[in-house]
Amino acid sequence: MTPPAGIRLEAVSKLYISGGCLVRAVDGISLDVEAGSSLAITGPSGCGKSTLLGLIGGLEVPSEGRILIGGRQISHLSDRLRARLRRKEIGFVFQSDNLLPFLTAVENVSLQVALHGPSGDFSRCPQLLAAVGMGELADRLPDQLSGGQRQRVAVARAVAHGPQVILADEPTGSLDAANAATLVDLLLGVQRAAGATLVVVTHDRCVATRLDRTVGIRDGRIANDTAGAGRDLGP
Ligand SMILES: Nc1ncnc2c1ncn2[C@@H]1O[C@H](COP(=O)(O)OP(=O)(O)OP(=O)(O)O)[C@@H](O)[C@H]1O
Ligand SMILES: [Mg+2]
Repeated sequence: MTPPAGIRLEAVSKLYISGGCLVRAVDGISLDVEAGSSLAITGPSGCGKSTLLGLIGGLEVPSEGRILIGGRQISHLSDRLRARLRRKEIGFVFQSDNLLPFLTAVENVSLQVALHGPSGDFSRCPQLLAAVGMGELADRLPDQLSGGQRQRVAVARAVAHGPQVILADEPTGSLDAANAATLVDLLLGVQRAAGATLVVVTHDRCVATRLDRTVGIRDGRIANDTAGAGRDLGP
């Protein structure tokens, strides 16, 4: 198993030009996320949560500042190396599951392993699906599954290649309360089993309080930083 990687942001900003105006989507955020811990990012719509997650996952490049994962600077990698980082070291879960509609559940999970490289272990895929309660439905196409079931497949897919970091953007946004609670259990279960660092963007307080720590964002900046139910950070 790959050791968990901590995440470090040093004075990170992301600026966009939109309609002739400069938007500071992320505005000078410094943050350390301990390796193997779980962090919730909360805040109102448009405050910069998804942009922040995209920066951590190497989908975006910061306009200013540095980002390190496992001590390695990722913010100035080439497009090719960032793509490699995303393929090998990051697992993503989005609000809409983004499963490929023409592949079955187990094929969607296997694709993630295939993208990791020729040494991928496909035998884990059915086990991972069983671990998220989808063992019986592994051969179904996404449109033969419910929203909650598809999100479970998306969680299995996110960890299939043994990522050091799992990033989830509103993973429970399209689920009812019961399915949302189940999905958080699954995310935390796979995170602990994989020993990965987990960052979840969520509007849902019930989700946030299950994680070790919650960082609230306002206007691209950290507004508050509190321990969640997952762990007591001390005084
Ligand atoms: N590619 C882009 N070009 C221009 N502006 C952008 C771009 N992406 C995001 N923004 C702007 O940056 C700000 C932060 O957007 P972001 O998507 O990070 O917000 P969010 O907190 O995830 O919101 P939500 O909760 O609605 O998903 C917003 O003002 C948004 O309009
Ligand atoms: Mg968002």
